[in-house]
Amino acid sequence: MNTVTNLPGSPQVAYRGDVLMLEDCAVADLAARFGTPLYAYSQSAMLAALSAYQRALAGRDHLICYAVKANSNLAVLQTFARAGCGFDIVSAGELARVLAAGAAPSKVVFSGVGKTRAEMQQALDVGVMCFNVESEAELETLSAVAVQAGRTAQISLRVNPDVDAKTHPYISTGLKGNKFGIAHERAVAVYARAARLPGIEIVGIDCHIGSQITEIDPYLDALDRMLDLVEAIEATGVTLHHLDLGGGLGITYADEQPPSAGELIGALLQRIDARGHAHRQLMFEPGRSLVGNAGVLVTEVLYLKPSDDADGKHFCIVDAAMNDMARPAMYEAWMGIVPCRLRDGPPVTYDVVGPVCESGDWLGRDRALAVQQGDHLALLSAGAYGMSMASNYNTRGRAAEVMVSGDQAGLIRERESPTELFRGEHLLP
Ligand code: LLP
Repeated sequence: MNTVTNLPGSPQVAYRGDVLMLEDCAVADLAARFGTPLYAYSQSAMLAALSAYQRALAGRDHLICYAVKANSNLAVLQTFARAGCGFDIVSAGELARVLAAGAAPSKVVFSGVGKTRAEMQQALDVGVMCFNVESEAELETLSAVAVQAGRTAQISLRVNPDVDAKTHPYISTGLKGNKFGIAHERAVAVYARAARLPGIEIVGIDCHIGSQITEIDPYLDALDRMLDLVEAIEATGVTLHHLDLGGGLGITYADEQPPSAGELIGALLQRIDARGHAHRQLMFEPGRSLVGNAGVLVTEVLYLKPSDDADGKHFCIVDAAMNDMARPAMYEAWMGIVPCRLRDGPPVTYDVVGPVCESGDWLGRDRALAVQQGDHLALLSAGAYGMSMASNYNTRGRAAEVMVSGDQAGLIRERESPTELFRGEHLLP
């Protein structure tokens, strides 16, 4: 029996002896079978993450709306739809995806600061559950579009609670200086306006304060400010059925210790009940915490490029790049990088970089690795904001994706071929 060595993140990604496993599949075998770069996901890790939210909310009127932007593969959406999940979308593209994956429109909320009239129209036509409205101008436009279409838009105002989520500035969204939401001080007046607008039906209130949040306190601060508002708004005669607290719960990439979904929701429910709001429908929009730890990005070592200088950099050049995984280049995010098969021998400290022609194209810096050309490496906790942020920069086709369940692995997205990349472009006459 091989010893099992766990890695930060999900128990479904672990070494059995020297071999990195995703559930009961050897990751190197997946690379050999499907090629690299390859995104591979554990379906049971996704379902386990979802059921932690579901268990914490059992017995409550609630809806968990998976934030599609974290990973929008149809098979991922289908996995969540079958498990009873709703969806948080931010574009007509995401709407088309969730419908193709079998989602019920009555469980879809539409977020985002820049919804177009055409997007509003499409969402009204299929009957989404709620528009999370982010500005007064958007509210007026939605009313006009709904009236013209002869429909009623159910809405919630996304309020900016002005709390510090204590996360990376690019992914902090609940502070006053952010572009998101309606200012806390304006909320009562905007609800009063919404109540008078034709084609608009108020159903709730929402906030989302940021992403990769590793503490409970910012959530409790936001909750308190939201409940103050709910009370002030309802005192004016407007009824708010649901309270949507957004997403944002962090995951472990290195040594972060975020609360579990159970701990976070337990603390929130306690406060909600203590303040007399136990009757309200609760909604959450988790993205990263449902899929992040469930995925790895598998890549092959193309070349090792040692430095002759004593203090020089050694490079490990791999076939995945910033176009496949943008997080390190974009946020200087630290993501674990481990060999798919452990080797004996002393590790060397490498910068792990991709083939894209930019110095910003790196996946990890100063990583101690015992590797040889042709080995496979796995970038850990790559299930969220990996493939969904991938681009075709350097005319690189996007990676293939596979879903693993036990010892089975199925292709859920084909690797993009070069000709697909310029289909739709035209030579001049
Ligand atoms: N709801 C709204 C309105 C959002 O804007 C987001 C994420 C979520 C829910 C889901 O948040 P989560 O549970 O995944 O933290 N690309 C960045 C993260 C951007 C998050 C954007 N909004 C990254 O790779 O770290």
